[in-house]
Amino acid sequence: MSSISIKSPADIDGMRVAGRLGAEVLDYITPFVKPGVTTGELDRLCHEYMVNVQGSIPAPLNYCPPGYTPYPKAICTSVNDVICHGIPGDKVLKNGDVVNLDITVIKDGYHGDNSRMFFVGEPSILARRLSEVTYECMWLGIAKVKPGIHLGDIGHVIQQHAEKSGYSVVREFCGHGIGKVFHEEPQVLHYGKPGTLEKLEAGMIFTIEPMINAGRRDIREMGDGWTIKTKDRSLSAQWEHTILVTETGFEVLTMSAGTPPPPAIVAQQLQAVPA
Ligand code: MF3
Ligand code: CO
Ligand code: CO
Repeated sequence: MSSISIKSPADIDGMRVAGRLGAEVLDYITPFVKPGVTTGELDRLCHEYMVNVQGSIPAPLNYCPPGYTPYPKAICTSVNDVICHGIPGDKVLKNGDVVNLDITVIKDGYHGDNSRMFFVGEPSILARRLSEVTYECMWLGIAKVKPGIHLGDIGHVIQQHAEKSGYSVVREFCGHGIGKVFHEEPQVLHYGKPGTLEKLEAGMIFTIEPMINAGRRDIREMGDGWTIKTKDRSLSAQWEHTILVTETGFEVLTMSAGTPPPPAIVAQQLQAVPA
C-alpha cells in the first residue's frame, strides 16, 4: 500500500519554481560564508532575500512537527559536528569550520528544499573528503531514480558508498516526499537493501539528503529541542536536492546558476540516460 502522491502537471510547474528559488538562496548566500560572520547574520540575510527579493516564505520559521517546539529561524545552519537542524545565532564562523546551510522556501504554496556544504576559509583534508563523499552519496542516489526502481535501491547505493569510504550513515533522519506539504510520504532512507520498499512512479517528488558522519552514526539531541550532533563529536556532512521522478529518469528541481555539477563518479551513468 503506497500513499505517495503523484503530482499534477500544475503541481510540477509550481515545484520547479520553488526548487529554483530555494537553490538561488544558496547562490545568494555563498559569498557571505566567510570567517567572522555569525550564523545569525547568514539567517538574517537569507530571510530578507526570500521575503524582499523573491517574495517567498521561509518554510522552517515556526515549523512545528508533533513533539517539537516551533523552529525559531528561517534557515538551518549546521556547523562541524552538528548533523542537522542547527539553529542560527551568535556563533561566529572561523577558518576551518564546515557548515551546511539548509534552505526551504515556499512559493505559491509549493516547497523547494535543498542544502549545500560550505567551507569557511580552508578546510581540513578530512572535512573536504567527507563533504565530497557525501556529495557523491547524494548523486549516486539521484542517478538511480527512475520509474520502477525501489526506494531501497537509493538507500543501498548511498550506504555502500559512505561505508566503503569509512564513514557512517545517520538513520534517524531521512529524505521525504514534498509538495504543498513540507514533509510527506515517502520516507527516503539513506541506507537499505536493493529491491525493498516502495516502487517509484513518474510524478513523485521527494528529497535525497544524506547525513554522513566521519565517525560513528550515533546522534545526540541538544537541549534546544532541534539541534542534532554526532555523539562522538566527529564531523558530519549533508547535501540535499529535491527530485522529480520523470518517465525516463529524474529531474533535479533545486537547480540554479550556482548549483555544483554532478561529481565524476556519476557523470558516465548520466550521459547514458536521455535527459
Ligand atoms: N530542511 C530540513 C529538511 O531537509 C528540515 C528542517 S525543519 C526545521 O527536511 F524546522 F528545522 F527547519
Ligand atoms: Co528535506
Ligand atoms: Co532541507
